[in-house]
Amino acid sequence: MATSAPVPTATDDDVCRHLALGELTVLARITDSSNNALLVKVMHEGRTQHAIHKPIRGERPLWDYPDGSLVARERAAYLLSHAGGFDIVPPTILRDGPFGPGSLQSWIGAVDGVADSGLVEVCPPGQAPPGWIVVLRGEDGVGRPVVLAHADDPGLRVMALFDAVINNSDRKGSHILRDAARLRGIDHGVSLSVEPKVRTVLWGFIGQPLSAGERARLERVAQAIDTDLREDLEDLLTTAEIRALSERIVGLLRTGAFPAPAPGWPAIPWPAL
Ligand SMILES: Nc1ncnc2c1ncn2[C@@H]1O[C@H](COP(=O)(O)OP(=O)(O)O)[C@@H](O)[C@H]1O
Ligand SMILES: [Mg+2]
Repeated sequence: MATSAPVPTATDDDVCRHLALGELTVLARITDSSNNALLVKVMHEGRTQHAIHKPIRGERPLWDYPDGSLVARERAAYLLSHAGGFDIVPPTILRDGPFGPGSLQSWIGAVDGVADSGLVEVCPPGQAPPGWIVVLRGEDGVGRPVVLAHADDPGLRVMALFDAVINNSDRKGSHILRDAARLRGIDHGVSLSVEPKVRTVLWGFIGQPLSAGERARLERVAQAIDTDLREDLEDLLTTAEIRALSERIVGLLRTGAFPAPAPGWPAIPWPAL
């Protein structure tokens, strides 16, 4: 009989293989997806892995990213996350589904729940948990003061650094999930542009020096971009996008600190959570 739990010791490579080889069945449309994503199950060798499938055909056109390029960015984000040891992006592949080619990413947490990290909040001033970092002060819909704050958490630092690398323009609170003991980030379709446009709720680390481990991740991913990942990235991104990616990493290593938002671009995603 099929079990519904993935093998507990499965590596990301194992999960990618399962996603690539398994039989895909659509379970539901994800109603809060702007790109017509589907919840699917993928059966392989008697095991079930739930996943999110984004058909290219379902992508909503955007003014600032080429049409039909978002799922390639999802895959590129996974490759970079994996190669650099950031391990932020759940295993993600490209494959055909019932609506043609698209991305397939392993599902984090229960299929009928949301694996919210609980590490980002909008709350009244002074009510963020102790030690949290306030990144924005504002007002709610009826004029009451609120703050946007996130935990001072090592996993969030890694995610913020990864977002600086991939130039993520949509790191909302709801794109930060908890998977057992680790944090995972989702929805990287709007990333890897040439123009600097990081939009994130994770601005609490601006100016903080990079740790040795953080520098090592940057060096590892830079090396991979020039070697093992090169060909794959060339299938997914433009030459200019790959060059800009390498330049962002060089810039981060040179300044040695978490970056500030680029001028002239909204720095906080909306909605923030
Ligand atoms: N890998 C995943 N694991 C668990 N939930 C996910 C995953 N990817 C997406 N989701 C859920 O599906 C919703 C829509 O996915 P998202 O990636 O934001 O789609 P879109 O590209 O349409 O913005 C998310 O808000 C989240 O609740
Ligand atoms: Mg989304």
